[in-house]
Amino acid sequence: MTSFQTRVVHAGLQADPTYRSVIPAIHQTSTYAQPRPGEFVADYDYARSANPTRAALERALGELEGGRAVCFSSGLAAEHALITAVCEAGSHVVMPGDLYGGTFRLVDKVLSRWGLAHTLVDQRELDALTAAIAPATRLVWVETPTNPLLNVVEIPSVVARSGDALVAVDNTFATPVNQRPLELGADFVVHSTTKYLGGHSDVVGGVVVTRSEEWYDRLRFVQNSIGAVPGPFDCFLVHRGLRTLAVRMAAHARSAAAVVELLRSLDGVSDVRWPGFSGMVSFRHPDAARIASRTRLFTLAESLGGVESLIEVPQAMTHQSVEGSAAAVAPDLVRLSCGIEEPADLVDDLRAAYDGST
Ligand SMILES: Cc1ncc(COP(=O)(O)O)c(C=O)c1O
Repeated sequence: MTSFQTRVVHAGLQADPTYRSVIPAIHQTSTYAQPRPGEFVADYDYARSANPTRAALERALGELEGGRAVCFSSGLAAEHALITAVCEAGSHVVMPGDLYGGTFRLVDKVLSRWGLAHTLVDQRELDALTAAIAPATRLVWVETPTNPLLNVVEIPSVVARSGDALVAVDNTFATPVNQRPLELGADFVVHSTTKYLGGHSDVVGGVVVTRSEEWYDRLRFVQNSIGAVPGPFDCFLVHRGLRTLAVRMAAHARSAAAVVELLRSLDGVSDVRWPGFSGMVSFRHPDAARIASRTRLFTLAESLGGVESLIEVPQAMTHQSVEGSAAAVAPDLVRLSCGIEEPADLVDDLRAAYDGST
C-alpha cells in the first residue's frame, strides 16, 4: 500500500470533470439547477445536504482515517452531531477525566438538559473505566492525547472494556499521521479540523469518520437535519492544508522535542509533558501567566495545531468551562502548541520569557 505521506498529498482529489483542473473548483453555490422536478446529479439538490467541495474533503478525510467522513462547521458541531446521533434522553456517556473544556460544556451544560448523563473517568485506569460503564452507557468518549494534560489512552484496551457501548476517539492532537483509531477498533473518530488538519489557523471546522455504512447514513441525516455544515471555501482551506499534514507533523515533533529538552533543564519548571509525537507540550511553573505573556514567537492565544507556535494558560483560557468540576485544570499549567519554526528560535524565545519572569 502507498505510504501515508504519499496518500495525504493526493487524498480526495480527482481532476475536475469539466476543465481537468488539478484542484477541484470551489463550488460556492447554495443550490443546483434541476432539468425536471426531482432530477439532479448525485446527491446535489441543495447545498446544506451536499456540496462537491465538501464531498472532496470528506473523501480525503475518510481515506486517511479509514472510513467514511461527514464534515461540520466546527469540531464542536461534529461532536454535537455524533452524540445526538448515538444517544437519546436517558443515555449515559463516559468521558475522560481530562478533556477539552468545550466537550465537557456541551455534555454537562447543554445535552444534560435533554436527559444525557455522564461520568468522568481517567481512562488509563481500566478497572475504573469498567466500573463506570452502566446499562445506559451508549458512548465512551476518548481523547488521546488528552487536552491539556496529554495523557495517552490505549484505544484497544478501552474498546475491550466498553462492552456494548460505542467508542468515539477525538484524534485532534494525534492526527491520522500518528494514530488511526478506527484501525484500533474505535467506532468513530472525531477531529477539530481547525487544528492540525487545516494546519494554518485560518479556518474552523470538524469531522466525524466511521467505518459503518449505517452510522454514516445516520450522521449524514443529522448533518442535514441540524445543518451545522461547513462552507465550500472553508472545506477548500482544510483540504489544502491537509496535503502537507505529514511533513508538518514531523516538523511539529522536532520543535516539541527541542522545547522539551529546554524545559526539563529549567529550575522551577515541573511536570513537563509531551507524548513523543505531535507538537503539544505542557508544563507547570508558579509564574505560568507571566511566562505566557512574555514570549514573542509563541503567540499568547487559544487554539493549536497551526504552523505558528502558540502558548496559553488553559485554566484562564481554553478550560474555563471545567472550573469547579472534576476535570478542573491547575492555574500553573502552561500549554504549548509548538509550530514549525526553527526549533532553536523557539527554544531561545521560551528561555528569554522564562529568564524575564525569574
Ligand atoms: C481536542 C479538541 N477537540 C475538539 C475541539 C473543538 O473544536 P472547534 O474549536 O473546532 O469547535 C477542540 C478545540 O480546541 C479541541 O482542542
